[in-house]
Amino acid sequence: MSDAKPLQIAVPLLDWYDRHRRAMPWRVLPGEVADPYHVWLSEIMLQQTTVTAVGPYFERFLSLWPKVADLAGANLDDVLHGWQGLGYYARARNLHKCAIVVASEHDGVFPDKEEELLKLPGIGPYTAAAIAAIAFDRRATVVDGNVERVMARLFAVEDPLPGSKKALCELAISVTPDARFGDYAQATMDLGATICSPTKPICVICPLIDICQARGLGIEEELPIRTPKAERPTRRGVAFWIVAPDGSVLLRRRVESGLLGGMMEIPSTEWVPDGVWSTETAIKEAPVDADWQKINGLVRHTFTHFQLEITILAARVDEKGSLEGVWCPPGKFGDYALPTIMKKVVRLGVGFSA
Ligand code: ADE
Repeated sequence: MSDAKPLQIAVPLLDWYDRHRRAMPWRVLPGEVADPYHVWLSEIMLQQTTVTAVGPYFERFLSLWPKVADLAGANLDDVLHGWQGLGYYARARNLHKCAIVVASEHDGVFPDKEEELLKLPGIGPYTAAAIAAIAFDRRATVVDGNVERVMARLFAVEDPLPGSKKALCELAISVTPDARFGDYAQATMDLGATICSPTKPICVICPLIDICQARGLGIEEELPIRTPKAERPTRRGVAFWIVAPDGSVLLRRRVESGLLGGMMEIPSTEWVPDGVWSTETAIKEAPVDADWQKINGLVRHTFTHFQLEITILAARVDEKGSLEGVWCPPGKFGDYALPTIMKKVVRLGVGFSA
């Protein structure tokens, strides 16, 4: 545990936050109470995305669905469509599920305790703590990557992440003050995002410069240390670009489970780890017998745990027949919530159609 007393950190940090807090569309002014729906929505959107990127999405969602009950009543496809560009569509699906549970089982009112929030779809420990602290000012310690970095430096923790996660979380808990939980949580995150940045922290303007142990030792830029990540493996797949006589292209919905579950795709094979698809093997998986031609080029996309490479086989068919899926007229791809990888496939495929 740390030597620093909670107030040694909280007082200068909150004082700094009161003067330098970042303006965000979901943040309220000092003394105002944040709307739990806004806090929840912003926190889900902010996972793995920046504050600047989230702003317009947040505003658009609120104008389309001003209350959680409106979002619950929305069509899932519209929600996924609105989410396009934020990535990780499972989060949008869980967002919708969560809205339905809050609307139907909690009368449209978000629970105010971490334990209850944790039971809701898509809400993990980080988000539960963030909502409890920020929307309800309940005692909860919010630990994201920014907070881990701030703790690692404040206490000169030299054990590498991710192994040191638990110790950093315990340090964060040990220095959480007894009041202003929401402001304190956001102050720590803001400090990590602006001053105590991953590279070149701006220590000279940091409110905690005098008590930062890493700064005292001159090792602030080296912390936190990270165990090097294993290289991402490559998976490979083949997409089938099927063009009907009227120029429309076949799209189909992926199965609900797994990555990009329920999203629309250009019909594709499985994404095989470390595998290579020959044209002959891929054709056996094609949704229709046709004169397949390989399109020049390769579509690459990086997911968290692997790199994906997709090649495209293209063919024209004489009739739409009974193929499963929807035929998308040329130029109408924007009407579908296509994940980024499939947008890249479309970009290459339209060259064949042209
Ligand atoms: N990152 C995620 N949520 C945040 C918040 N409420 N304030 C600052 N940074 C954040």
